[in-house]
Amino acid sequence: MTKSVYFIGGGNMAEAIIAALHQKLQTVTIYVEEHQSTRQEILKSKYNVTLKSPEEIAPEVDLLVIAIRPQDDLTGTLESIQRRFSKATTIISIVAGYSISKIEQIIGSDYPIVRTIPNTMTTIDYGYSGIATNSHVDKETIAPFFSTFGKPLYVEEQYLDIITGFYPPNIVYHFYDALTDAGVIAGLPRAISEKIVIDNLVGAVEMIQSRDATPQELININNSPGGVGANLLYELNQKGFAAAIQSAVLRAVSRTKELGGNQDE
Ligand SMILES: NC(=O)c1ccc[n+]([C@@H]2O[C@H](COP(=O)([O-])OP(=O)(O)OC[C@H]3O[C@@H](n4cnc5c(N)ncnc54)[C@H](OP(=O)(O)O)[C@@H]3O)[C@@H](O)[C@H]2O)c1
Repeated sequence: MTKSVYFIGGGNMAEAIIAALHQKLQTVTIYVEEHQSTRQEILKSKYNVTLKSPEEIAPEVDLLVIAIRPQDDLTGTLESIQRRFSKATTIISIVAGYSISKIEQIIGSDYPIVRTIPNTMTTIDYGYSGIATNSHVDKETIAPFFSTFGKPLYVEEQYLDIITGFYPPNIVYHFYDALTDAGVIAGLPRAISEKIVIDNLVGAVEMIQSRDATPQELININNSPGGVGANLLYELNQKGFAAAIQSAVLRAVSRTKELGGNQDE
């Protein structure tokens, strides 16, 4: 049973997880170490967290979540964790691109270490958390924590950087904006365009999930010879629609590796 979770870094992603813990695991004590006083006040007033500083003696905690950015002082933070927290604490890093072996190089290989990439959609019970662990982790110990936000997806660690770059829903948000703007450029009032785009997105997902047909077959149903759909497809191909999406994902994955310093791995 998880009784206590300690966060180092109390930014956007930490807050998404804290909000879920606060709502669904109400018996858990949440500690937060955070630089920014405005963030400290928000987390204390909204979720009743206990604020801590690295100068204080650390409490015995079940889980410790490293929720700072890849460009922050990770080495210093890990050295401080090693001084202050016992090896009974499971370390959970949400830092993009930073591998378990790099963490072990600094704090040693005796701690249970989990590396995970949560998704901001966890606040609405969507979003897989990609999870990889070292051999000391007891999956039953971390199950209640991961069951509070999103859906756990255990993968080999090599896939985490890809999931980090590939998974955030940003491309879908960009697509929503671009398609809504297209309706407006063509002459529709924005409210009507937005209504149609949302219905299209939700309906298209439903069609893909519920029908025994591939997206390509669904496209073919809509594309009569020389018709509107076929012309739209021709223009998308001309403008490199698929290649733009694919190279954006490859760029995002490569940036994840750069930030974590994993380019050579
Ligand atoms: N946002 C997402 O969708 C998402 C998804 C998956 C994973 N992640 C990962 O989650 C991590 C956090 O991302 P975020 O978006 O939550 O970042 P963020 O909103 O910028 O929050 C980071 C916070 O940590 C504070 N901080 C930095 N070093 C600290 C330290 N040693 N002790 C205490 N506080 C410290 C920062 O304060 P200062 O600015 O004063 O340094 C900042 O307020 C990143 O590693 C990111 O890769 C994010």
